[in-house]
Amino acid sequence: MAIREVLTWPDARLLEVASDVPRVDDAVRALIDDLFDTMYDAPGVGLAATQLGVPWRVVVLDTRDEAGQKTPLALVNGRIVEREGTILWREGCLSLPGITAEVERSARITVEYLDRDGQPQRLEAEGLKAVCIQHELDHLDGQLYVDRLGRLERKATLLEYAEVQAEEAAERAADDAIAPQRSAS
Ligand code: NI
Repeated sequence: MAIREVLTWPDARLLEVASDVPRVDDAVRALIDDLFDTMYDAPGVGLAATQLGVPWRVVVLDTRDEAGQKTPLALVNGRIVEREGTILWREGCLSLPGITAEVERSARITVEYLDRDGQPQRLEAEGLKAVCIQHELDHLDGQLYVDRLGRLERKATLLEYAEVQAEEAAERAADDAIAPQRSAS
């Protein structure tokens, strides 16, 4: 188990379409463990293998229960088989840190997947959990939530992202520049 680096936009590996996992073996279970470790460390509510540069159809999420307790869920080869209604949700993404945008999704979904033992499962979800599953499965098709926005809103959101990244880089550079003085005093 390990915390791994999360790729950030515009890394080209985020645009890859992932392949189905042929068999849920120990290597897949190790990937699931790394995804959970990385997601909880970030912290985030979901993470896709694509975001670690692994082109397999594996995602994890944890939207917690009403009491705030952990409810870890790993989906291998997940596929949405039913959709109903629409919902608008403000989403963020560990691959686009520092920004959020409202995205329209299906309000209720049914998803079929393999669990970490390779057993077929079927799950109905709504609200945050439904949004999160759709967001993570999109990653496996090389799609980020900004790709669900209209053309102009997508552009504005990515410009905001570039600004946030530039500001943070400038702050880091400033911290580095004053660090020797701090240590000297
Ligand atoms: Ni994401």
